[in-house]
Amino acid sequence: MDSLLIKGGVPLHGDVTISGAKNAVLPIMAATLLTAEKCVIRRVPDLSDVKFMGKILASLGAEVKAEGDTVTVQAAKIKGVGDYDLIRKMRGSICILGPLLARLHKAKVSLPGGCVIGTRPIDLHLKGLRALGVGIKVESGYILATAKKLTGADLFLGGRAGPTVLGTANIIMAAVLAEGVTLIESAACEPEVMDLCNFLTAMGAKITGVGSPTITITGVKELHGAEHEVIPDRIEAATYAIAAAATNGEVTLHGARAEHMNAVLDKLRESGVKVERQGAALKVRRGGRLKPVDITTLPYAGFPTDVQAQMMALMILTPGISIITERIFESRFTHAAELMRLGADISIEGPSAIVKGGKPLSGAPVMASDLRASAALVIAGLCAKGATQVNRIYHLDRGYEKMDDKLKALGARIERVEET
Ligand code: EPZ
Repeated sequence: MDSLLIKGGVPLHGDVTISGAKNAVLPIMAATLLTAEKCVIRRVPDLSDVKFMGKILASLGAEVKAEGDTVTVQAAKIKGVGDYDLIRKMRGSICILGPLLARLHKAKVSLPGGCVIGTRPIDLHLKGLRALGVGIKVESGYILATAKKLTGADLFLGGRAGPTVLGTANIIMAAVLAEGVTLIESAACEPEVMDLCNFLTAMGAKITGVGSPTITITGVKELHGAEHEVIPDRIEAATYAIAAAATNGEVTLHGARAEHMNAVLDKLRESGVKVERQGAALKVRRGGRLKPVDITTLPYAGFPTDVQAQMMALMILTPGISIITERIFESRFTHAAELMRLGADISIEGPSAIVKGGKPLSGAPVMASDLRASAALVIAGLCAKGATQVNRIYHLDRGYEKMDDKLKALGARIERVEET
């Protein structure tokens, strides 16, 4: 397994281009199953999760071609049984369920795995599909779903932690070809769900309320092919903004959409970071002494859980006490123990992490555990004295396009060490 070797202490300077959003492109690729016609998706990030989704679509019988940052999919003839091992390995694959049921009225997919951040249940996905008339059995690790037809329904999709992003995506994709109207209350409002809805609309779907907690879908007979450019990745942009502030550098993020990042930019400004809009770019630099801030992760437009770990990496550098409360996932502090190896002072009290920031960090070998925790370790390594080796960076490669190259271009002393 590859690792990253980082020699800290270099402020990041220069320009970085933000890639397409992983969490938009995965459901959008799944949505291509809804038509037999060709779909062209642009600004697709070069990520292992995206390659995985391409393999899953191909295993269902779709023709998938990738050329540069453009992926073409034609699901002319598909089957409803997905490759167990492929689907089990990637959580995002659950969003093929809705389109398969809409297109074929049947699907057999493996239960998606959980991961270090939590059990990742899918009860809300199944509740929504049942409301549309789908019969569902779960046995020997598979979800077996069939429906004579899909009929529109009114349904509430909120769970104990609020809306479900991929659950909303799944139900929308099941409803676009259902008979009648579906109204989803407590739908997820994330920009990635909006981007999916924009792609579905381009395919001929009838959806209103996009970006609001109440989405209405009027079923149509069939959908046609479409072309779409994926929105930039607000989580990647937030990650580089935080890295710029943490290293006391100055970085311009090209392609970042500030309107998707208000909660993050608000907290960065509160902590003393300077963020200026420059046309379609954001310039970020530390504006002097950092101030501690309290963070609570919430559904969009609240502070995103996917930026919680990276913000902790900034707060361990910030003199004073910051409290970070994770309200979306039940165990998303795995990065804390690894940050403490670098000298951070963090104590976990239930859903909150108490960060006593300002202690000097010194490099050490650390273990990546999930995608965003890995990013936090890289940020901390960029600031620690001496060398930090971040192991198991396949986690990073799942969701960050060429992170080591992008950081090197900003002046970081970082090398990918391929395991021999
Ligand atoms: C999406 O996961 C993202 N992944 C996650 O990003 C992100 O953290 C999450 O949304 C929340 O914003 C993709 O889009 C591929 P949820 P998703 O369903 O849809 C509970 C990253 O780092 N829940 O919105 O799987 C669940 O346990 C990844 O890029 C149920 O209880 O998350 C959690 O507590 C990590 N029942 C909360 O809802 C369900 O049926 C939010 O989960 C579904 C979810």
